[in-house]
Amino acid sequence: MNINKVCVLGGTGFVGSAIVSKLAAMGIKTRLISRHPERHRDLLVLPNVEVVEADVNDFNRLSYYLHNIDAVINLIGILNDNTLDGAGFRRMHIDFPKLLVQACQKNNIKRLVHMSALHADAGTAPSHYLRSKGEGENHLHIYSDKGIQITTFRPSVIFGPNDDFFNRFAKLLKVTPLICPVPRANSRFAPVFVGDVADSIVKHLTDPNSNGLRIDLCGPHTYSMMEIMQYTASVLGIKRKFIALPDRLSRLMAHMSDIANSIPLISPAMNMLIPGFKEARFSIDNYRSLLVDSVCDDAETQKTAIEDIVPQYLGEQNSQHRYDKFRSGA
Ligand SMILES: NC(=O)c1ccc[n+]([C@@H]2O[C@H](COP(=O)([O-])OP(=O)(O)OC[C@H]3O[C@@H](n4cnc5c(N)ncnc54)[C@H](OP(=O)(O)O)[C@@H]3O)[C@@H](O)[C@H]2O)c1
Repeated sequence: MNINKVCVLGGTGFVGSAIVSKLAAMGIKTRLISRHPERHRDLLVLPNVEVVEADVNDFNRLSYYLHNIDAVINLIGILNDNTLDGAGFRRMHIDFPKLLVQACQKNNIKRLVHMSALHADAGTAPSHYLRSKGEGENHLHIYSDKGIQITTFRPSVIFGPNDDFFNRFAKLLKVTPLICPVPRANSRFAPVFVGDVADSIVKHLTDPNSNGLRIDLCGPHTYSMMEIMQYTASVLGIKRKFIALPDRLSRLMAHMSDIANSIPLISPAMNMLIPGFKEARFSIDNYRSLLVDSVCDDAETQKTAIEDIVPQYLGEQNSQHRYDKFRSGA
């Protein structure tokens, strides 16, 4: 498949930046559509990258920027929704892909790669996040028989510098006193490295045999939430006593977090008053997503383990490491 110019939606985000770097290195031109292009000037240093400003939910603007594009990669997604009925998730994970596929048809685009999530399922998933991801994915795959080659990626949690996983836990641990309660402590993950995710997406982008595939992506090892927290603390060089929260308390904590976030001004005030409040956000929808272990049964298992990469970016924050660096520089 001959692809010269790709539009990456959500290309300014954590996964998007990794993909855009790889496409740039391959000499493929990329157009990124962002709500805030001024925040992403760093991406402009990459060759053949353009960042344009638009609201992707505006069909005319979206269509305009898909002109002369050979393939689209859609990474737009949200993990938290301020509505309690899942309307925000449905808007971005179902309504937006529907709009996008129409805009692709209008511009005669024949290749669409879409980012979903592991265990997304329109019918049986326990959370709005996973159900909406599943429904969006199903809708797009109808078009793989209608002239658009569709491939969906379904990763477990993704890690790497600037992730919202280990970095969030690190911030939280630094402000948590000696005892740290862990909700859903037995929930399991198979963290997959962002570089491996980007490699897989870029590899499949030009492969015509990928049409119709839904590809699960997992890292080489699985860990419980408790193990992830303990590992993060060990990389940071801080000692905490971790306590697994009983399930009822995990749910209560999630409900309280949603209530605090739904009251105007309460959330910003809490962020100012309570260190770590923002990082500790754990909604009832997050809780429900964790009822399904984020591990693969049958997947493209990727090679890079958390132990290969996480110390490179969290280790900088280790107090002993900072002290050694200061001493060697003195
Ligand atoms: N990170 C993970 O662990 C993980 C795991 C499984 C699946 N995924 C999926 O992978 C995709 C990428 O994740 P990520 O971690 O890279 O996310 P991210 O860093 O939050 O980036 C998301 C991107 O989507 C755009 N976006 C967000 N909300 C939007 C809205 N309301 N309207 C328009 N654009 C919006 C943002 O662009 P602008 O702000 O520039 O407009 C941003 O570039 C998502 O679909 C996510 O659900 C991620």
